[in-house]
Amino acid sequence: MKALILSGGKGTRLRPITHTSAKQLVPIANKPILFYALEAMAAAKIREVGIVVGDTKREIQGAVGDGAQWGIEVSYIEQEAPLGLAHAVKIAEPFLGNHPFVMYLGDNLIKDGICSLVEEFERSGANSQILLARVRDPQRFGVAELRDGQVISLEEKPAHPKSDLALVGVYMFDQTIFEAVHAIQPSARGELEITDAIQYLIDKGYQVHPHIISRWWKDTGKLEDMLEANRIMLEAITPRVEGEVDEASHLIGKVIVEQGASVTASTIRGPAIIGRRCRIINSYIGPFTSIYHDTLVQNSEIEHSIILDQCRITDIGGRLEDSLIGKNVEVFRSDGKPKAYRLMLGDSSQVGLV
Ligand code: DAU
Repeated sequence: MKALILSGGKGTRLRPITHTSAKQLVPIANKPILFYALEAMAAAKIREVGIVVGDTKREIQGAVGDGAQWGIEVSYIEQEAPLGLAHAVKIAEPFLGNHPFVMYLGDNLIKDGICSLVEEFERSGANSQILLARVRDPQRFGVAELRDGQVISLEEKPAHPKSDLALVGVYMFDQTIFEAVHAIQPSARGELEITDAIQYLIDKGYQVHPHIISRWWKDTGKLEDMLEANRIMLEAITPRVEGEVDEASHLIGKVIVEQGASVTASTIRGPAIIGRRCRIINSYIGPFTSIYHDTLVQNSEIEHSIILDQCRITDIGGRLEDSLIGKNVEVFRSDGKPKAYRLMLGDSSQVGLV
């Protein structure tokens, strides 16, 4: 078995973070989303992993390297533009050869890995296995219609979904998928859709095995989804303190303080993570908050948020909540007159003032 992880694409729903960074590298519980996929591959004993990359190739390559830290061998496959999930399969054909493979969307998170799912596919002898999950908003996903436990149709983001069964971003294929991706045409939105390719397999009588999952899964395309994913992953942390916590500070519940971080005269209510070399001074960090590396929080309160690296959040007065703050951002209160909000925000930023 080989694996193909898709980490190209544009990430339009997470702008402005994705103007400058890959959405697959946003840290969830202080670990880039993509790393969860790589861990899942290693756990499923898949050694050869191809990562499809686009504009953010250098950043992804810089973070993942050759895969040695997971005991896997990573090859990079360049996609000239995000022309669709089936297009990514098409260009990966020389890498995949005639090996069966797992295709994993690099912005998806699935709790408890994929080992049993890979085993089930290998046992089934099917040409493809798709994972389905019941969702409240199926029009945001590929949607499957089943009859007598068999998939009869698939539609990409239908306005009127035929079921509440969304396609999860983890698929398994044998080499018949290449016949399909060569046969289909781009959709109305100009992409070669993997749903159309799987529909082709069904129409040609190939065996597509559906597996309805009950485990937690998230497509982290939107802010709310990122915050939920962060919540779920933080709930599973094992507390540890590798940095410095002074006597005037309190750590309550599950808290990780990473190496080189310092917590001074502050309260951290877990589950929460304070990243490497962060400084938390005279502040309150509330539940479900992840603070990535080298960030300073002083005289401030933060809850239910993800803060990236090298930020400075100081003297903010109110409490920061439900927020995703990109790298190297400064949030502060100034006493300068005239009293006014002074902002420097990237394109597509969102600011909620009270
Ligand atoms: O998350 C599950 C959903 O993922 C499925 O239900 C849909 O059927 C499937 O089409 C897909 O929908 P999205 O709209 O969420 O796909 P997105 O464009 O966000 O791309 C998913 C990942 O694949 C993301 O990490 C970017 C990468 N990608 C995407 C495209 C279109 C590529 O590497 N190349 C591409 O050409």
